[in-house]
Amino acid sequence: MRSRIIGTGSFLPERVLTNHDLERLVETSDQWIQERTGIRERRVAGSDEDCRALARRAAERALAAAQISGQEIDLVVVATCTPDHIFPSTASGLQRILGVRPGAPAFDVSAACSGFIYALGIADQFIRAGSAQRALVIGAETMTRILDWEDRGTCVLFGDGAGAAVLEATEQEEGILATRLHSDGRYESLLYVPWGPGQGFPALQERGGYIRMRGNEVFKVAVNTLARIAEESLEAAGVEQSEIDWLIPHQANVRIIQATAKRLNLPMSRVVLTVGEHGNTSAASVPIALDTAVRDGRVQRGQLLLLEAFGGGFTWGSALIRY
Ligand code: UT7
Repeated sequence: MRSRIIGTGSFLPERVLTNHDLERLVETSDQWIQERTGIRERRVAGSDEDCRALARRAAERALAAAQISGQEIDLVVVATCTPDHIFPSTASGLQRILGVRPGAPAFDVSAACSGFIYALGIADQFIRAGSAQRALVIGAETMTRILDWEDRGTCVLFGDGAGAAVLEATEQEEGILATRLHSDGRYESLLYVPWGPGQGFPALQERGGYIRMRGNEVFKVAVNTLARIAEESLEAAGVEQSEIDWLIPHQANVRIIQATAKRLNLPMSRVVLTVGEHGNTSAASVPIALDTAVRDGRVQRGQLLLLEAFGGGFTWGSALIRY
């Protein structure tokens, strides 16, 4: 038993924040941001849009593409590091909103920017084990709510959005061939948010609840790790590097993506690149890129896709998919 993707969807909030807009907030320039990251603009969720609202829009599009209703879903997994509530989970809220069968499992996964790959890997295991037939897997983030708008090292990088995929059990040879998930907690101090609800509100005032990142150090580990993980999942599935049709990477920085593609001997024409349009949307970035390439016709049935991501924790992971 395997799981195959039967529908994808994504959603970006309407409000656009360009690099030029950011020039008015911090000491930066459109040129610096584009040259160092490839980002041109990002989206910002409206005050009436929370993580659940973004997730809902992406999920509805994925369900429509799969031509099924929420009632036919028996597992909901949402990857996010910016949930609306401590509990209940974003996934439980969506279960109700989307009319997913009461009693079906629904939960959030916290793995920062690797969240969607983690959620996909977990849902795939549920399906392989026969515990679910159809899973809704979502990455949704309101990253702009945890940005320090005075820190030019982070505020120019992130944006809001959501992406989703519907998985279905199949006995065919296609679908998710292999997933690999990893974490190394020794790197916590390079990328983190220094507050959580367990620390109480005085600590929030003291430390601030915003992303802290030592970008350059994160960059170096990310480049080395992503090249390794790509090789690992190819080996697990017994697939040659040259067989990959599309690399669909986490969209954090075009330079990290270029370095990964180079190590895989893949020309950039076979890499799905969307970071310019939405910046780093954390767990939402891989499913947004996947959905973009499915909808514009680049990704075709039968092609081999390599999805990969790297983020806070550090966490990282990959999924090899015969689409
Ligand atoms: O998704 C989760 C994982 N996160 C990532 O993958 C992010 C990884 N890191 C990166 O993408 C890059 O490291 C950044 C884009 C964050 C930074 O690029 P960099 O080439 O590593 O630059 P840097 O941190 O080495 O900084 C170079 C210079 C510094 O100035 P000095 O010390 O050379 O005078 C920074 O202060 O650029 C300066 N700088 C900026 N200048 C203009 C840092 N941020 C900005 C900015 N605008 N926004």
